[in-house]
Amino acid sequence: MCGIIGIVGTSSVQDRLIESLKRLEYRGYDSAGIAGFTGNGVERRRAAGKLKNLEAVLAGDPLEATVGIGHTRWATHGPPTEGNAHPHRAGRVTLVHNGIIENFGELKAELQAAGHIFETDTDTEVVAHLLDVELTNKSPAEAFKATLDRVRGAFALVVMIAGEPDLLMGTRRGPPLIVGYGQGEMFLGSDALAVGPFTNRIAYLEDGDFVIIDHKSARVFNEAGKPVTRAVQTVAQSATLMEKGNYRHFMEKEIHDQPEGCQRTIAAYVDTLTGRTAIPGGIEFAKLDRIQIVGCGTAYYAGLLGKYLIERLAGLPVDVEVASEFRYREPALNAGSLVIAMSQSGETADTLAALRYCQAKGMRSAAVVNAVGSTMAREVDVVWPIHCGVEIGVASTKAFTAQVSVLTALAVAAARARGRIDATEEQRLVQVMLEAPRLMAEAALTEDAIRKLAPELARARDVLYLGRGPMFPLALEGALKLKEISYIHAEGYAAGELKHGPIALIDEATPTIVIAPSDPLMEKTLANMSEVAARGGPIILITDAEGAKHASPDMKVIVGPACDPFIAPLVYSPPIQLLAYYVAVHKGADVDQPRNLAKSVTVE
Ligand code: AGP
Repeated sequence: MCGIIGIVGTSSVQDRLIESLKRLEYRGYDSAGIAGFTGNGVERRRAAGKLKNLEAVLAGDPLEATVGIGHTRWATHGPPTEGNAHPHRAGRVTLVHNGIIENFGELKAELQAAGHIFETDTDTEVVAHLLDVELTNKSPAEAFKATLDRVRGAFALVVMIAGEPDLLMGTRRGPPLIVGYGQGEMFLGSDALAVGPFTNRIAYLEDGDFVIIDHKSARVFNEAGKPVTRAVQTVAQSATLMEKGNYRHFMEKEIHDQPEGCQRTIAAYVDTLTGRTAIPGGIEFAKLDRIQIVGCGTAYYAGLLGKYLIERLAGLPVDVEVASEFRYREPALNAGSLVIAMSQSGETADTLAALRYCQAKGMRSAAVVNAVGSTMAREVDVVWPIHCGVEIGVASTKAFTAQVSVLTALAVAAARARGRIDATEEQRLVQVMLEAPRLMAEAALTEDAIRKLAPELARARDVLYLGRGPMFPLALEGALKLKEISYIHAEGYAAGELKHGPIALIDEATPTIVIAPSDPLMEKTLANMSEVAARGGPIILITDAEGAKHASPDMKVIVGPACDPFIAPLVYSPPIQLLAYYVAVHKGADVDQPRNLAKSVTVE
């Protein structure tokens, strides 16, 4: 995923483009660039690597412009070099792009056959050439529409045209693009965060829309070229804020923000007066025969946790699948079931495609999302928002536990609706849920003990995470956290599965993280832990005081608070996140912007 900004301003845009790109860097950071209308026509400044490299270029060669565009890149086609950095240009056209042009190969061949010379390896440049050809005998709007009619893929674009210095054009087909309404200035951006410093009055473009902005207005057209109106909304200030406070990294801040995020999220799904659940959207759980959950990465693991909680409590079958595999295996689905898309960004292409596949089968649809203006949120029947605030760290933490909070509340509501629990038990479980934020904060107090384990873990080449029951999805999530920010290979395993092969991996150089707070399965997990210890594998046991009694002297033990097993996945998330965080910090890794990653992957 890449970050896009465009400004039709009345004062210098260079610093504002950079400020916006800093807010968008979490979307991709392989290279960056800006372009603007100057006295010499359209000029570009670009640099490979982080945004600070582009700032260094501008220090020596500023861009004097009041209308301009900017881009921060997560490479899909072409290595992250300066030459492949956006903005790209051809003839009169200069543009920035987020997404993929799927038919760029055939279009490029056609254009090359017609004599066009390409400067880059990117798919993006094809659009610039195509539009430049269409501008020969068409107005900007007509030429843009004609170009978009020929391009296939999932993309957002912002375009400048030489000779039209008071105009920017934009479109979205898949990845988001919003219009920002300023005071005598107009903006285009990937999300509310991008334009946050300039305005919180925005309009969300719908899929297929294209828009033409000048200083004072936006003309929006749908895919057929028909003028349409998109409502201007005032977004919450939080959607436009990003601060680290006194934390070193956004991830560190977001780990510690979890109790508050979960508290706000749980409060949105329970009625604290009656002590019962209050799930918006009117889903009749008693009439559902099955729930299908789809998601990617951490969101998928949140869904897996939901399966454990909903099936055990509500007796309602739940299937959970990695979105990128789901629709290609042609799953057997029926219209009587519900699909729940799990997605922090609400823009993940794989999850969006899986959701649309289910909708096409006649299933009712819901989405558990953080970005309420996202594509997923706008396409489902029911939105179940999480209320943890914008998550900047590429490694998801507070969104994960907020998503688990929603599914925990759903499990209680579904159990009540299906007569599996009575009102008293529902009120008890709601009370247990309301205790989770305090216990999560208590679990995060293990931070100092965890930090001390980082040097040893940072030396490992491979790490295993073990858990049973709901601690198994947590083991998977813990392994993903370690992988994606410290670059150490890690695998999450069902503890009982270890002896069926993976135990061959155990040696004194392979640490095993055992996640086993007191629950009905703890004894069995501890038995699996002994199998590891017997083979000389170093063990870090994450448990509560009761579980700690089973540790042997050579084990490292992190003791969290005792809690009801029903909320253990929430309570024991901060320690596993902090473990990954401190290992990455010890290794000097780029915690908030790990190599090769982007915050949301809006391409398949
Ligand atoms: C999680 O730490 C990763 N950054 C990644 O797995 C992420 O969860 C996944 O790409 C899904 O993103 P989404 O929740 O925005 O759909």
